[in-house]
Amino acid sequence: MSINNLNKEDLKVSKPFLKWAGGKRQLLFELEKRLPNLILENGIIETYVEPFVGGGALFFYLESNYQVKKSILLDVNMELIMAYRAIQNDSKYLISILKDMEDEHLQKSEENRKKNYYSKRDDFNTQMHEIDYTHYSREWVDRAAHLIFLNKTCFNGLFRLNSKGEFNVPFGRYQNPTICDVENLQSAHNSLKKTELLCTDFTKSQQFIQKGTLVYLDPPYRPLNNTSHFTGYSREGFSDQDQKKLAEFYKKMDTKGAHLILSNSDPKNHDQKDDFFDELYYGYNIQRVPAKRNINSKTSRRGEIQELIIRNYSN
Ligand SMILES: C[S@@+](CC[C@H](N)C(=O)[O-])C[C@H]1O[C@@H](n2cnc3c(N)ncnc32)[C@H](O)[C@@H]1O
Repeated sequence: MSINNLNKEDLKVSKPFLKWAGGKRQLLFELEKRLPNLILENGIIETYVEPFVGGGALFFYLESNYQVKKSILLDVNMELIMAYRAIQNDSKYLISILKDMEDEHLQKSEENRKKNYYSKRDDFNTQMHEIDYTHYSREWVDRAAHLIFLNKTCFNGLFRLNSKGEFNVPFGRYQNPTICDVENLQSAHNSLKKTELLCTDFTKSQQFIQKGTLVYLDPPYRPLNNTSHFTGYSREGFSDQDQKKLAEFYKKMDTKGAHLILSNSDPKNHDQKDDFFDELYYGYNIQRVPAKRNINSKTSRRGEIQELIIRNYSN
């Protein structure tokens, strides 16, 4: 669809513009059921804070279905926050660059698409050393377009950086990938209009959290087992020590009177005796819900697992 055919101001049914490991689209129904009663009744969210936003599945869902008066999204991944900022400030320009990239790519043969992918990946990695990450500029928009292009054409749609901070996911074979979803990018722009976006550690979100603030915490998964070491969001990863720091943060925000919803993978999927989160969040409302795990590239490892949802209130 062309951007000119859209009634831009009305469009607000948005979904993540990136496929993100640990994305929560599968869990939306379970999360929504567990929103505070007042929000379910009146459809209004005064302040929403998401300290580990990633692809932002819950944020975009809430923005599309509730009246969110104020929202603050944070993530340590700079490339991700740059893309959010580019969509927020310059969606039209971003769409025009990405549309050109899509047209150019889809005209090519399979072999040439592969070459094009690796050449764009090289550009992206080279630009990393040249770009000014501290001041917003049109270069951010170009970089965001590259990130979305790579995300839509790479293997399994993963975002992964190697130890040098380079994007290193191989080419993915897709028949006809939608690289530039004009309608959704414009809706995402509308959803992000009033949002504050910060690239920083989750602890910095505390200044925005007060009595009644709705906070959704979806930190990186604790590895499912000894052979799964997925820490690809940032070079730093998220250790058990970080999970403990997060539990301390949760308790502090609880005393402020915020409504807290935290999700994580359940270590009991692997080891029934692993009480790591049950101990960390003892006394809170801990529930286990079925979910589908799909970040693992081996199809046999996908399938049903349990996810934890931990709240500091019960409806
Ligand atoms: C499980 S993902 C969130 C997925 C998200 N709920 C979605 O729907 O796509 C976890 C996110 O936490 C971010 N992250 C990792 N360490 C962090 C930290 N210390 N502070 C803030 N964000 C962090 C990662 O970059 C990643 O995007």
